[in-house]
Amino acid sequence: MVSADCIDHPVMPASRYEQLVQSVVDYAIYMLDPSGRVVSWNAGAERIKGYRAEEVIGRHFSLFFTPQDCADGRPDLLLKQALEHGVAQDEGWRMRKDGTQFWALAALDVIRDDSGQVIGLAKVTRDITDRRESALQLDAIRAQLFQAQKLEALGQLTGGLAHDFNNLLTIIITSAKLALGSQDSIRVQRMLEHILDAGQRGTELTQQLLTFARHRQLDVSLIAPAAVLASTRSLLEHALPREIVLQERLQPGLPSIEVDAGQLQMVLLNLLFNARDAIGERGTICIALDAVALNGEVDGLHGKFVRFEVLDDGAGIDPKVLLRIFEPFFTTKPFGKGTGLGLSQAYGFAKQSNGAITVDSTVGVGTCMRLYLPASEQDSGLQPHR
Ligand SMILES: Nc1ncnc2c1ncn2[C@@H]1O[C@H](COP(=O)(O)OP(=O)(O)OP(=O)(O)O)[C@@H](O)[C@H]1O
Ligand SMILES: [Mg+2]
Repeated sequence: MVSADCIDHPVMPASRYEQLVQSVVDYAIYMLDPSGRVVSWNAGAERIKGYRAEEVIGRHFSLFFTPQDCADGRPDLLLKQALEHGVAQDEGWRMRKDGTQFWALAALDVIRDDSGQVIGLAKVTRDITDRRESALQLDAIRAQLFQAQKLEALGQLTGGLAHDFNNLLTIIITSAKLALGSQDSIRVQRMLEHILDAGQRGTELTQQLLTFARHRQLDVSLIAPAAVLASTRSLLEHALPREIVLQERLQPGLPSIEVDAGQLQMVLLNLLFNARDAIGERGTICIALDAVALNGEVDGLHGKFVRFEVLDDGAGIDPKVLLRIFEPFFTTKPFGKGTGLGLSQAYGFAKQSNGAITVDSTVGVGTCMRLYLPASEQDSGLQPHR
């Protein structure tokens, strides 16, 4: 590691700096002249990129970029950015001498002499291939968990839907029987209309379920929060007991958000299922959507956000349990009733979307979950955060 203390030490002579830079092996540290040619080369650069000093000094640093990046003019762009702004940062594939590639995190800083004249650029590169692979693996696991959660949610939804399909089929069969036994053409006409209506409602139900079940990779698009809410509600209606009232409060003119609509729907369904489970027999769930301006009060976030609130008047959450609800596999539900993945998924989704999720709960009174997602537009009706 390079220690800032060592570098800034006022009495360290120049040759000691060189020794220090030379001995660093975890970072490639080298200098470029203002045209991008390599001027110095340390041990870390040799270890990471595979070239010895005499092989690279005097050559242009585009040597380390992939042919595609060179064709896109990326090295020159970086150099230009650094010369204009004093610094440039980059993350991407780089080539070693043997032709293999590594994922690099690189910084380019302009160095000036006492009169302010640019004398060169300091280039520090780290090989973070391992870190990137772990991040990709984590994404893959997260996607798998989402799929598992989706199956769980589908199971819950189909239970409710089966009941609705039965009702629709009863309407169809009874109306058809009545129509068959009737001579009255007006009555027959009415029965046929009932049949058509029930058939159409059945088609809508299967359509919603299919849209929800379709497997998709993270698919970020610009969506209207109200539309996601409407489709979630129509799915949910069939999975809520009649004694649980579902209320909605929507601020008009909400800004759009840029997220994966399928994942957002999953997260909302889980919040709503959690609320339903906390209520038990009878109670009220309220979903409220607002646009809010944050100033660091929620997870240090700043800017315009759409806030999804799910409030219930259920059992509430014990303070000891509250500390753990976002942990994967943490559940207080009996075996087979919950996987404990719902809120950890919601948390992952909020973070991945540059938002946040928070909870307020009082035992015996109820719970309020709040999901914040960044607004993608500069417009409409923002309220100060409450
Ligand atoms: N609205 C709520 N009211 C009371 N407790 C809640 C509420 N939401 C979550 N919890 C508590 O947090 C725990 C974790 O919730 P989470 O959604 O992660 O998992 P789960 O609901 O138990 O299982 P799954 O979501 O996989 O079906 C729940 O088991 C419950 O104890
Ligand atoms: Mg849950």
